[in-house]
Amino acid sequence: MKRIELLAHQMEFCADMSSPYIAMCAGFGSGKTRAFAIKHILLASRNVGYIGAALTPTAAMARDLVQPTLEELLELAGIDFKYRASPLPEYVLYFPNGKSKLLVRSFENWRRLRGLNLAWFGVDEADTVNADVADAAWKTMISRVRVGPVRQCFATSTPEGFRWMWRTFERDARNPDGSPRTDRRLVRGRTYDNPFLPASYIESLEQNYPPALIKAYLEGQFVNLTSGQVYNAFDRKLNHCPSQLRLNDRLHIGVDFNVGATSAIVHIVIGLDDGRWVGYRPQTNREALSTKWEQAHAVAEFQGMTDTPALIAAIKQRFGTYLTGRQIVCYPDAAGNHTDATNASESSLSLLRQAGLMVDGPSANPLIKDRVTAMNAMFLNGQGIRRYYVNSQACPLYVEALEQQAYDPKTGKPDKQNGHDNRGIDAAGYFISYRYEARERKMHSVSLSLVHGRR
Ligand SMILES: Nc1ncnc2c1ncn2[C@@H]1O[C@H](COP(=O)(O)OP(=O)(O)OP(=O)(O)O)[C@@H](O)[C@H]1O
Ligand SMILES: [Mg+2]
Repeated sequence: MKRIELLAHQMEFCADMSSPYIAMCAGFGSGKTRAFAIKHILLASRNVGYIGAALTPTAAMARDLVQPTLEELLELAGIDFKYRASPLPEYVLYFPNGKSKLLVRSFENWRRLRGLNLAWFGVDEADTVNADVADAAWKTMISRVRVGPVRQCFATSTPEGFRWMWRTFERDARNPDGSPRTDRRLVRGRTYDNPFLPASYIESLEQNYPPALIKAYLEGQFVNLTSGQVYNAFDRKLNHCPSQLRLNDRLHIGVDFNVGATSAIVHIVIGLDDGRWVGYRPQTNREALSTKWEQAHAVAEFQGMTDTPALIAAIKQRFGTYLTGRQIVCYPDAAGNHTDATNASESSLSLLRQAGLMVDGPSANPLIKDRVTAMNAMFLNGQGIRRYYVNSQACPLYVEALEQQAYDPKTGKPDKQNGHDNRGIDAAGYFISYRYEARERKMHSVSLSLVHGRR
């Protein structure tokens, strides 16, 4: 095999062929998929005449990320291979002393792999799968690895809190008497350790993720992502601004429809416009002043409205002049496209439009997790910059809800029992996540020159 350069953590992971179970727990873009592909090639070369399996949570992830990387590396290493796409994808790798086979399968559909006898298998992005599913799949898969001279089971992933990877490689790494188990090993890597990433990649992650997620997603640490305060980047004092509305401001209103508890949070956005500072200049955060980034300021709240018409009436009463000037844009719960709960003939969105409010936003709601991430990153990002300020005098209930909403230990989702989500959190989240959504974080690996099945 020709020489392929490896980063230190990739080397540690790939060179260990003796630990029965080995995992690489590492940040986004740290070189996991590349190490994953190299490990398959190495194990295939040591297990000539046998079969291995490359698993990804979904078939699409294999096609888009793992297969191009694998093919690029096989080319680089000068190893001949043949690809067959159907009935299920598989590679045959040709070595001087014989050939071995690599099946490409979905980790979530592990039940279909039951009848196999494997020498090795590996799963990429293992922690993105539900922990119980991953556990069942892993246990079944390790029972299939029972032939070949160099048997090994491995996983690569960015950690998603205390999930499958933590359970398997950290919690269960010790025997009940406290002595370390010798059958498993965890290798760690950080995004910062990969010099091949474009310079802007880390910077953009730091801008788009709050500090807790930076620890998990860049440093590859196990961080509890689903317990305690949901908006943990929010600080009542540091995220406070005394901003007031001015006549020429445009109002950006996040709206959440709930029967008897419709809420809305009114924002203005400010930033450098033609080199001139527009809007309130925060005195608290020097760094924010020196950035080119826009800020959002929450300046008013509507709470506990009975229904959409009541909210519209309240907006008209309070901000009538802005409405006449067509200066109001609403960002509603996308589910409001359905019929309004208390007004069976019209949808909430069409009621807003009929009242002269502009409506913007995505056609489907963002994932809760992405909405929370966008809010937290705006409150405080990985570069220490706060871009979302809340006037705590003008929005007292919203601020209280931000401080108090916790994760529900039963579901691992933001708690709905105490009604915090009805006090403007979801409303504001629709606006913030739509306007400041984190950019796609995946590195798109590109297949160099390969066409499937060209042999
Ligand atoms: N040893 C290496 N030599 C050259 N380039 C490398 C090496 N390791 C990683 N890279 C490059 O760095 C980038 C990220 O690598 P890779 O896709 O393997 O990371 P990842 O951790 O799987 O990323 P993601 O979190 O997006 O899944 C790719 O462009 C890859 O080609
Ligand atoms: Mg990857």
